[in-house]
Amino acid sequence: MTVFIGLPGNEGLARNLSSAAGGRVAGLECRRFPDGESYVRILDDVRGERVILVCTLADPDCHFLQLVFAAGAARDAGARRVELVAPYLAYMRQDRAFADGEAVSARHFANLISRVFDSLLTIDPHLHRIQRLSEVFTIPARALRAAPLLADWIIGNVERPLVIGPDSESRQWVEDVARQADAPYAVLGKVRRGDREVEISLPDLSRARGRRPVLVDDIISTGQTMLQAAAKLKTAGFPAPVILAVHGLMADDAYALLRAVSHAVVTTDSVVHHSNRIPIGSLLREALTLH
Ligand code: R5P
Repeated sequence: MTVFIGLPGNEGLARNLSSAAGGRVAGLECRRFPDGESYVRILDDVRGERVILVCTLADPDCHFLQLVFAAGAARDAGARRVELVAPYLAYMRQDRAFADGEAVSARHFANLISRVFDSLLTIDPHLHRIQRLSEVFTIPARALRAAPLLADWIIGNVERPLVIGPDSESRQWVEDVARQADAPYAVLGKVRRGDREVEISLPDLSRARGRRPVLVDDIISTGQTMLQAAAKLKTAGFPAPVILAVHGLMADDAYALLRAVSHAVVTTDSVVHHSNRIPIGSLLREALTLH
């Protein structure tokens, strides 16, 4: 039997996946010792079972140790396999050393996960200079694509959309989404000068005048990429854009800033946030039941 265990904040998704996959849910106690260290205990029998830990990895430094301890506890309790479902996979953007001495976090994080788990299932990881998960993971690691869900949302909610990727990396998502939503698309140019400093340039979009821009990206972190893109579109005479992302990390005041310049801000629930309008449960359920 398959046993699903949700890390704190992921219990609902674990229940949802368990009922679709015909599994059961095991309880997990997680708390902090007075000194801030983590206490983790699996509350049900998992001996001989395939255990799937469910934990989205936004804010990973806060959650990763508990996840590692939960995986260790499952193995100590005799689990046959220990797998990870992480709707958002962290640390994929630091995929090379941009300056001497920098840690290539994507590779090191993948190494850690590969040591602890037997497999990984995730959604739209940031694959750019690393093109496939197999380049950095030594376990089977599968990436699902949220494009069909984003396209369905556009079809149901936006009239005359123009799908726009804010940078070259977003082309992979934007092309898919635009094709499935039967909409035209464009890709903007981006130069990143710092964590919160990006410059966006627009190609000639005059043929798309009168359409509603739908900015599509994998991740919103500080929101600066989307903010600068929205500002350029406004200058070019477009109406306020819909801002659509798979993973809404929404650092600091990103959400408030984006709402102020957009028609709507919409994300999937891979990371729980007020902007969630697109549930990813069906995508994961399908992948797990067909597994
Ligand atoms: C990186 O290129 C990603 O695809 C996103 O464009 C980026 O993470 C967005 O970051 P921010 O919201 O901080 O501009």
